[in-house]
Amino acid sequence: MSQVFPKWTNLIPKVIAPLAVLGLGLVSFGYVYYVDNKYWMVGYEPQQPVDYSHQIHVGKLGMDCRFCHTHVEESYHSNVPATATCMNCHTADEATDQAMLSSDLWKKHKTNKNLVTLRASFQSGEPVQWRRIHKIPDYAHFPHAAHVNAGISCYSCHGRVDQLEVVRQNHSLAMGWCLECHRAPEKHLVDNKGQMGAPVQVTDLKTVAELLASESQAQRGAELAKQKQLQPPQHCAACHY
Ligand code: HEC
Ligand code: HEC
Ligand code: HEC
Ligand code: HEC
Ligand code: HEC
Repeated sequence: MSQVFPKWTNLIPKVIAPLAVLGLGLVSFGYVYYVDNKYWMVGYEPQQPVDYSHQIHVGKLGMDCRFCHTHVEESYHSNVPATATCMNCHTADEATDQAMLSSDLWKKHKTNKNLVTLRASFQSGEPVQWRRIHKIPDYAHFPHAAHVNAGISCYSCHGRVDQLEVVRQNHSLAMGWCLECHRAPEKHLVDNKGQMGAPVQVTDLKTVAELLASESQAQRGAELAKQKQLQPPQHCAACHY
């Protein structure tokens, strides 16, 4: 048989085709990664001026989110605590120093770099410059308290913060994400007002995570949605005005 194509062209299917597939794969991976994660800052986890750990304070010490994020149930915006809130426990004056000298924890904390920074902030009145993590663009509106009061847990939007050493963003906060829940909020509703028994704390992330993953959520959520008469808006002007 006469050779129509030179011999090297036999390599085309063996080498070039897999390369092309690989290339295509990389491009689509890159696209998905960029669009789903990087662009929307999923995983955004900036270095903070003080290494504050939710894992220690919430996970280990059992503090409620609202001790520090005091406005989550009342206000359009949530808030990050002032240094004074931390000083409920991390004070350091002569008196406490004397009283606590026997405590190993205090000895350790007296020279802890982060706590030295924290106490300096309190003394000078200069707030700690926490870097903002979750932020939607100014042309969209997100009323924080309305969600918490409707029975949506911090868990649904911020994940298991109680397990984090450093807070990271774990959902895109994109319009599609908002609408996905607005179309089917029952998947995320918890009985925060005790309409169907003992109330569930929206800040009890572990319990909420278990409840939402359980088989009974579909029925309970649907019942709660009916009782609460929630109508999450889908018209543009609700979020853009
Ligand atoms: C002892 C005080 C304290 C408690 C309790 C606490 N937080 Fe925080 N939280 C902070 C501080 C300080 C920051 C800012 C520094 C940081 O991002 O780690 C913060 C940041 C956050 C952020 C990121 C804010 C941003 O910039 O977008 C989220 C989300 C958050 N907390 C959720 C929670 C949840 C949920 C709970 C309860 C499970 C909780 N916090 C309990 C002090 C606290
Ligand atoms: C209810 C009391 C309480 C409050 C309020 C509190 N802390 Fe703490 N914090 C503790 C205790 C107790 C420890 C030691 C925990 C351990 O090591 O087991 C600690 C540990 C720490 C540490 C040291 C972690 C390490 O070992 O390196 C830092 C830093 C810290 N807290 C920052 C903060 C900041 C910032 C705030 C305010 C947003 C805050 N704390 C509010 C009780 C508190
Ligand atoms: C329905 C979703 C949703 C729920 C539920 C929710 N958050 Fe948020 N949270 C957001 C979004 C979105 C932002 C960013 C808002 C913005 O940019 O205006 C945010 C911002 C924050 C911030 C940053 C505020 C700042 O100014 O730095 C904190 C802290 C916070 N949330 C804590 C909580 C806590 C604690 C709970 C539970 C009690 C909670 N969130 C429940 C979606 C939610
Ligand atoms: C996990 C579920 C969930 C997510 C995610 C969510 N929402 Fe909602 N949203 C609700 C529910 C439930 C209501 C209904 C509250 C009510 O009727 O009291 C609501 C109500 C609202 C309202 C009307 C509030 C009012 O006072 O009537 C606005 C505006 C809104 N959401 C904006 C947003 C935006 C913007 C985002 C995304 C950044 C978002 N939501 C993400 C569940 C969610
Ligand atoms: C539940 C709240 C909500 C509703 C309802 C909503 N949006 Fe949005 N929209 C957002 C949020 C949050 C963003 C910012 C994040 C993003 O760009 O996805 C946004 C972004 C946008 C953007 C900018 C997108 C981009 O790629 O920069 C446009 C355009 C837009 N919305 C148009 C609309 C129109 C038109 C409607 C009605 C059909 C609508 N939105 C309904 C929450 C909402």
